[in-house]
Parts: sequence; C-alpha cells; structure tokens
Amino acid sequence: MDLRIKSFEDYKQIYNESVQDPEKFWSNVADQFHWKKSWDKVLEWNFAEPFIKWFNGGQLNITENMLDVHLDNSGDKIAFYWEPNDPEAHDTNITYKDLYHKVCKAANALKSLGIKKGDRVCIYMPMTLEAIVSIIACARIGAVHSIVFAGFSSNALADRINDASAKLVITADGLHRGSKQVPLKEMTDIALLNCTSVEHVIVLDCIHSKPEMKEGRDLDYHTLIANMHNECEAETMESEDPLFILYTSGSTGKPKGVVHSCAGFMIYTAYSFQNVFQYEEGDVFWCTADIGWITGHSYIVYGPLLSGASSVLFEGVPTYPDASRFWQICDKYKVNQFYTAPTAIRALMAHGLDYVNNCNLNSLKVIGSVGEPINEEAWNWYYKNIGKNNCSIVDTWWQTETGGIMLSGLGNLSPMKPTHAGYPLPGIQAVLLDEEGSEITKNEKEGLLCIKFPWPSIIRTTYGDHERCRITYFSDYKNYYFTGDGAKRDKDGMYRIIGRVDDVINVSGHRFGTAEIEDAINTNKYAIESAVVGFPHAIKGQGIYAFVVSESDGSADSDELVESIMGSVIEGIGKIAKPDKVLIVPGLPKTRSGKIMRRILRKIAEGEKSEFGDISTLLNPDVVKAIADKA
Ligand code: WT7
Repeated sequence: MDLRIKSFEDYKQIYNESVQDPEKFWSNVADQFHWKKSWDKVLEWNFAEPFIKWFNGGQLNITENMLDVHLDNSGDKIAFYWEPNDPEAHDTNITYKDLYHKVCKAANALKSLGIKKGDRVCIYMPMTLEAIVSIIACARIGAVHSIVFAGFSSNALADRINDASAKLVITADGLHRGSKQVPLKEMTDIALLNCTSVEHVIVLDCIHSKPEMKEGRDLDYHTLIANMHNECEAETMESEDPLFILYTSGSTGKPKGVVHSCAGFMIYTAYSFQNVFQYEEGDVFWCTADIGWITGHSYIVYGPLLSGASSVLFEGVPTYPDASRFWQICDKYKVNQFYTAPTAIRALMAHGLDYVNNCNLNSLKVIGSVGEPINEEAWNWYYKNIGKNNCSIVDTWWQTETGGIMLSGLGNLSPMKPTHAGYPLPGIQAVLLDEEGSEITKNEKEGLLCIKFPWPSIIRTTYGDHERCRITYFSDYKNYYFTGDGAKRDKDGMYRIIGRVDDVINVSGHRFGTAEIEDAINTNKYAIESAVVGFPHAIKGQGIYAFVVSESDGSADSDELVESIMGSVIEGIGKIAKPDKVLIVPGLPKTRSGKIMRRILRKIAEGEKSEFGDISTLLNPDVVKAIADKA
C-alpha cells in the first residue's frame, strides 16, 4: 500500500484537492485498506457537540491491516528489531508472521480471562516486544487499550485505571532503564489497593525479580500464553468504535482520557507515516519515543505496521552505556528514518561530538523531531552532525488529540527552515485566529493555532465525560478545534510553533498541567498553597518551578522541606514531573479577587528581580519583592 506523495508540486495540488473535496480525498485513501464491510457515509460532523463520524457503517479490524494483509507477501519480513537496554544482552527480531501468531496467542489469552470487545485493558509495560504484542492483542479482540507510561507513579496509574474502569492490567516485574531498575509490579500492587475494577494482572518477567504474585489475580505472561492457539479471528469493529484511550494533561483538573476510534486512526497514522517519513519498501525506521506516549502509539505501533515497515524498538535510554548509544543503534540496524525529541538532541549535544563522530550514520535519509519546539542551535547541530548536511529534517507538530502529525515537511520533498514545522499535511485545514476569534489571513502574523475541518484521527471524546471534550477543545472558538498552541506563519506560509498559550508546561516533550502538579504538592502535609510555572530550560525546553507557601511560613525552608515537597510530586505523578526548583515563599501574589498572578511568577522564575510591571492592583504587592529576593 503506497500512499506517498511524490513531489512538492504534487503536494500542493493534492492539498488543494483535499480541501476542496475532503470526502473524496479521504475515501480514496480509505480504499487502500482492507474492510470487512464498506462504509455508508464518509463523514458526518459538527464541532458544536462535537459529533464526528468518519466512514460510518464501515466494519474493519485494524490488526488485519497491520498483520494479516502482509502475511502472503511479507510474512518473513522483520517487523521489529528489538534492541535491549544493555548492549551486551541478547537482541531479537520478530517477523510479521511471528508477530501475527504471538498476537493471536495473546488475544486468545485475553479472551480466556473474559476480556471482551469494549472492555478496557491497562498496559503498564517496558519497551518490549510483549508490550507491542499486548497492544495489538487488545485491538484484535476489540478491547480498548489504555497504555500508561511506565514512568508514572502508582497514584497516577491508579487514577488512570479507575477513570477507565480497566478490568485487566498487563505489566512486568520491572524494567531496565540505563543502570537502574524500576519495580513495576510492586508499583502496580500499590496502585491496585485503590482500584476495584481490576480482576486480573498479567506479569511479564523482564528483570527476573520474582515478584510476589497474588493468588487468583496475578498470572505469569508466558505461562498464560504458552498453550493458547496461534490463530484468533479478528473481532468485527465499527469504524467509530473506540480503539484506545490515552491520558494527557490539560490546564485544569486531572489528566483526561483522549479517545481515538478504529477507522480514522488507522487511515491517518498510515497516511502520515508514509508521507512525512517518505518510508520506502526495505527501509528501517526508528522512533525513539516510549509506547506510553501518543508518538509511540502512532509511529512505533500503528503507522509502521499498517505500512508493512521494519522498525527498531529500543528498550533503553540515549545515554547508556554512553552518549553514543543512539548513533550506534542507527549504524547497527542501518536506520533510514530516525525520529526523536529536541530534548534528547540537546542532551546529546551537551556530551560533545566525540560520541557522534565514532559512528558513521550514512544510512540516514530523514531525521525527525517531535514534542516541543526545536531551537535553532539544536536544529543546526542535528542537521550537520547527525544528518551530515544531506538528510531532511522533519519538524513534526501534532498532539495526543490529533492522533497523527499535522504540520511537517514531507521527507525530502518539502522546503525546510530551522524552527519551522512547515506546511499542513493534506486534509489538515490549519488556521491562525486572533484573540477575537477571526481568522488571520495575512502571513508573518502570530495567532492561535486552530483547525477548522475534521481529519480522520481527530479526538472523538474524553473518556466518560464528553462535555469536557467540548469545553476543552471546541468551545473557545466556535466551529474550530483549538490546539492550545500559539503559532506564526512566515512570508511563505510555513508555520512556526511558538508554544502553549495555556497553563500547560512542556518538559522534555512531556505535557503537564500546572494544576495537576499543584494538586500533588498540596497533598504534602507542610504545603498550604502552591503555584507552578514553566521556565526556559537549556535541555528540557521547559523546567518546572514551584512556589510553595508552607506551614512554617517561610522561616524554615530546610532542604528537608523542599525534598519532601518534591517527593509528593514524585508520588502523585512520577519522577518525570519532579520540579527543578521548589521555593518556599511567604505568600503568592494575588489579585483582589484571589486569582494567582502567574505572569509575575513566570518572570521571577526567569530570573527577573525588579521589573514586574504594574503590581499596584495586587492584594499583597509586598509579597512580590519578598519572593524575588528569595529566588
Ligand atoms: C504539544 C502536544 C505529538 C507528540 C508528542 C507530544 C507541543 C508537539 C511540536 C513541535 C513545537 C510541539 C505542542 C503541542 N509540540 N510537537 N514539532 N514543535 N511544539 O504530544 O503530549 O500531546 O503534546 O506538544 O505544544 O500542543 P502531546
């Protein structure tokens, strides 16, 4: 199935066609897939509710398009090259045919535990082939997977399990992360003290830690799967049946479960994968994301397998055993398309060129960036030292909610410009709005990035709370999907993403809501009140700065107190959200109506000592100086 556009001229024409007649455009793409029954209607929608149905009446199973369709001609082709955390450990490959049988066995195992179409299954696993198998096994039987990044804490896991009422958790005894190990089973056990929906836990042996198994609840992965039949008929799914839930943070409340549906997600991830990376038959693709994030869902699992691609799956981290690991893996598997995050590029940049120059990297054709704005210095370093001045950089802008890449160059077809994501993919009607909600038609202007027409993998709902979906994405600007990002178009119409305009912080490409971190801090017995803001961070893009009013009213900000508050965030969310700085303050700057003035705190976090603009309207203007003096 070749969905690729072949030149930039073609892109322009196809883009125009996709806007003039979206239904015709997307039904031509959809025709390339295997359907159990064709659709009745290509698209029905309104953004008011929102109500979005693509290919309604159609029936399919996404896994038939990922596996079964490849068996006749490419059954022996490698689907994944699995590279372990420890370079000395045993690496393994899996062919499409092996993957198919392993998925069928796992699917039958899930069925044997009573998991049926529509049931939610939580996956809390390391980067292993069994994780991939588990994900696809869910889709095979129509169970809705909810993958929780294995860096999240027990509390965060419990919240997600409860929100989705998951019946089953698939996890591992633990995971390897560089020289460290994380005891996933222990963390799952703690989470499950507060979850009543879970009937079974499947445990993969990964670090040989022989965890305690709870009788009647816990099952060993390989023992369970061993005697299962290696064929499993794919459940018939309606186009709009949910495929998965993935939790993501917003400016308010707890993380919400973004729901994606079967047909639309299938069509868009395959289409965007092939076009953005210009993947050609025989190429080896490597996306370094974790399966716990949307990038892993769309561009490790679904997009590549739908396209019959061969990919690398890496268990470890970029700096273990040393900072040349990524580049050694590129050479080892002769990677052609490499996809990573700016934070990794900046971290590796800081280690110096010795780690790059002992690798050859000449298989690379397209190198990608995702998750946060890539600064010009990192872009140039990536282009010169990794791309050797002859690879295309694709700076891909998208979100958990968009399901697939929205703005990006298309491999070597498109013009590139540092810090610019570029043009919208076919079918993506991106616009910039001013504060009043009017479309900005001129170029070289900054505005709020919105999308004015549905694309197949647009978010369908937030799990269990459709109204929250409407309010978050469709209510600020009538008839538009609002992304939460600010952007600018240059004179040629290329988009540059400026960053979030809401209370979302992007730390190393991971999204956290300030409210969510504050909630975690406020569980600390010493904390009375807190305010969290982002600040520029050389490696992570943004760092987390927490201002905390404590019981001891600022006089006793011992290291212990700060440590304890950091501990509360690690417990509530995970190490990935640990504040870079906790400052104990006597009070928070507030307006007379009691609203925290984050603008001032952001300035203080950036290092400002005295210029705060007009603070006379504050309830407590004196506190500003007191905070700035301490910072
Ligand atoms: C937010 C979405 C999409 C996969 C990873 C993150 C920021 C994402 C870029 C980019 C500038 C980017 C945006 C967006 N973002 N890609 N290429 N340039 N910013 O997914 O966790 O849903 O976060 O990440 O601010 O809104 P996510």
